[in-house]
Parts: sequence; structure tokens; C-alpha cells
Amino acid sequence: MKLTLKRLALVLLALAALTVIAAAISAIVCKSTFCVRNYTVAIEGIKTDTRVVMLSDLHSCQYGKDNQRLLQAIQEEQPAAIFCVGDMVNAGADDTELKQLVSFVSDLQEIAQVYFSLGNTELQNMMDGGADVLQLMQSVGAVALLDDYVETEIGGNRINVGFTMGHYNYTQEQWKNPPDYAMEYAVGADGTPAIVLMHMPESFILDIHNKWTGDLYLCGHTHGGLWRIPGIGGVFAPTQGFFPKYDRGYFTFDDGRFQMIINPGFGGHKGIPRIFNLPELSVITLTGI
Ligand SMILES: [Fe+2]
Repeated sequence: MKLTLKRLALVLLALAALTVIAAAISAIVCKSTFCVRNYTVAIEGIKTDTRVVMLSDLHSCQYGKDNQRLLQAIQEEQPAAIFCVGDMVNAGADDTELKQLVSFVSDLQEIAQVYFSLGNTELQNMMDGGADVLQLMQSVGAVALLDDYVETEIGGNRINVGFTMGHYNYTQEQWKNPPDYAMEYAVGADGTPAIVLMHMPESFILDIHNKWTGDLYLCGHTHGGLWRIPGIGGVFAPTQGFFPKYDRGYFTFDDGRFQMIINPGFGGHKGIPRIFNLPELSVITLTGI
């Protein structure tokens, strides 16, 4: 009996050691590379199939000098538009990080029109007196707005694009009647296909979206659950806590009336690495119904 217990302890110890080694290797892989994932999203009113790309939560990560590997991957997709959905720099980003972001978005603009929406890090930096990231992005040609939308053309399709950070640090009263609902009510009200760049997916998770008019919501913020357990999913996401349902990928709400893609981002969280959670460049083919 003692021998069996000893063997069992050894097996468990070996398994634990293997898990730690695999996690360490995965953390290195997740920091140095990313995957490309394809989605097809049908929206009423899209007349020409159109490919766009989406990225979020870059958190100042670099893939090669001046992010050349990421730029090349985006270039290869020949997108009609590039959507940046917030947290592209870290909280407290310094001048170097901001210059890197400006340079990166300027390079993206050479590929396709960039639509840039703020994440909580950029918004917090601005609230703390940091640089106006919206102005910086606009200075290199990106469409960058907050709680507003533009009527635009993407791949020959008329599309409205909305911009909101989500609902960061709202009080309970603001959750019920937040000041930026005007954009969500208006963006697709006339039946024009509407894509909303919304860093935080919380509004859907907390079910306060019932009168909204967007068709496709592009989100980030969850970092895919940061660590992932194969076969189970993400380990932790803000608001949702442990084992979040909405961690990364494609979701629908209200019997398909609303569609959402959560990009798992590229960065870790405050020095905590991603494990078994490859960063993702999301490639979305918009098609009609
Ligand atoms: Fe983030």
C-alpha cells in the first residue's frame, strides 16, 4: 500500500512538473507569435463580400522590428478596413510607446483605412492628463472617435461604424442610463449595416443592450481569459470572474439579432503572461443575408 501511494505521489509530481514546463514554453510562444483566425459574419444589407481585420489589446507588444511581422500578416489579408479596438498601449504609456503606436497605425493606414476606438488604458491615460490618443490617431489619417459614429464605405458597402470604449467605471445609475447610449441607439437605426467597435463587451454580458441598433460588435478586453485550460477555456476575465463564458471568439445575442466577436488581444496583463492562449489577428469576411 505504501509503495502504491509513493508511486502515485511520484506520478502526480511528474505531471505537475510537466504542466509547469509546458506552461513556461507556452508563455514564451504566446509572447512571440500569434495566430490568424477567420470569421464569416452575415449582415443584412451587405451587398459585396468584404474582408476586414480586427485587433485589440496590443498593449505595446512588438512582433519584429516596428511590428513588421504583424504588419505583413495584415497586408497578406488585403483587408478593406482595419479595426483597432482599444488597449493598443499600456496604462501609463510613455512617449516611446505612444510614438510606436503612431508609427504602427501610420503603417496600417498604408494598407487600408484604420478605424480606431479607445480602450480603458487609453481612456485612463487621457483622464490622467496624458496625450489625446484620438488626436494622435487622427493625425495619421485614422478615423478615431469616442461615443460617436461615422457613415462610411467599406469594400463598396455602405456601413456605419460606431466607437465606444464600453462602460468603464460607471456607477449603477450610469449603467442604467449612460450618457453614450445615443450612439448605440442611432448607429444602425435607419437599417444601414452597423459595426460597433466596443472595447468592453460588458454591456451584452450584463444584458443592457436591448434597444441598441448595431449588427456586429467588435470587442476585446478579456485577453481570452489570460490563461486557458485546454478543453475548458479561459481562466479569468474582468467582470465575469473565473471561467468566463465570453472569453474569445464569436457569440450571438437575442436569437442572432446581435453578433459579437471578442478578439483575445495580444498582450498579457500587468506582467502576467498568457498561457495556452495564442494572440489572434481576427480576419472577418462580411457577407449579406
Ligand atoms: Fe487590455
